[in-house]
Amino acid sequence: MARRSTAPLVAALIALACCAATQAARLEGSQPQERAGLSWSPPSFCRRKDCPEFQVLQTRDDVELRRYKPAHWISTNVTNAKWGDAYDEGYARLQKYVGGDNDKGAKLQQTNPSFTLLYVADEKAHTLQSLFTVEYFVPFELQDAPPQPTAEDVGVMHVSQQDVWVLTFGGYATEDVVVDRAFEFIANLTGDGIDVFTEFVGVALYDQPARLIDRHNELWLWAKEPAPSASTAFDTAAAATQASMDGLEAVMQRLFGAKRK
Ligand SMILES: *[C@@H]1O[C@H](CO)[C@@H](O)[C@H](O)[C@H]1NC(C)=O
Ligand SMILES: *[C@@H]1O[C@H](CO)[C@@H](O)[C@H](O)[C@H]1NC(C)=O
Repeated sequence: MARRSTAPLVAALIALACCAATQAARLEGSQPQERAGLSWSPPSFCRRKDCPEFQVLQTRDDVELRRYKPAHWISTNVTNAKWGDAYDEGYARLQKYVGGDNDKGAKLQQTNPSFTLLYVADEKAHTLQSLFTVEYFVPFELQDAPPQPTAEDVGVMHVSQQDVWVLTFGGYATEDVVVDRAFEFIANLTGDGIDVFTEFVGVALYDQPARLIDRHNELWLWAKEPAPSASTAFDTAAAATQASMDGLEAVMQRLFGAKRK
C-alpha cells in the first residue's frame, strides 16, 4: 500500500512488460481475446495503480454510464451485519492472497478499486443483507492467468463486459454515507426511468484512509440493458443466454461469473 523506494524500478519493469506485450499483440494481429490494460491509461483517481478499463457511454450530472471490459477479479463472500466489518474481513483475506497465499506463491501489486457488492434486503426500509462480496482487481500483467487462491473462501471470478451507472462522491465513505447514498442513487435512477438492477449495489474505494483531500469513491448500479449505442459489442451467445435466464442468481452468474476452482 505504502509507496516504497522500489516504486520507480517496479514502474520501469511494468512499462517494459507492457511494451513487450503490446508488440506481441500487434504481431498476432487482430485477436478476438480481450487483453485488458494494454492501451488503457487509467484515470487519475486510480492513483497510479492498475484498475479496470472502461469507456464512458453517457454522462448525466454527476453520474456516468460506463462500459467495463471483461476482467478477472479475486472475490470473497463475508457474512456480517455491517458493511464496514465485512469489508475489513474481506480486505484482510484478499491481502493474504496478494501477499502470497496463491498457488504461485506470488506477491501481487496493489490495484484499485477496493470493491464491495452490497445486496439489498428491503429497498423501502433501506436495509441490506448480511452478505457482502469483497473484491480485488487482478493486475494487468496477470489478467490472463490469475494465480489460484489457496484459501477455500477466496475465488477467481471472470466478470463479463458490463454497463454500470457510476455516482462519484468525495469524503470518507462511512457506512451511513454509503447506505444512504446507495438507496438515494437507486431512487434517483429508477425515478428517471433508468432500468437498473436494484438487488445489488457496488461500492468502489480508491483511497487510503491517510489521504485527507480529493478523495474518490463510487457507487455502481448495473444497467439492465446494454446501451443501444454499442449493443453490437454484445455477442449473440451472450444475448441469447441473457434472454433465457432469470432470477437473481442467474443474473449474478451472468455478470460476475462463477467461482473457479
Ligand atoms: C459468493 O456468493 C455468490 C452468491 O451466492 C456466488 O455466486 C459466488 O460464487 C460466491 N463467491 C465465492 C468466491 O465463493
Ligand atoms: C439524487 O437527486 C437529487 C436531486 O437531483 C440530488 O441532489 C442528489 O445528489 C442525487 N443523489 C444521488 C445519490 O444520486
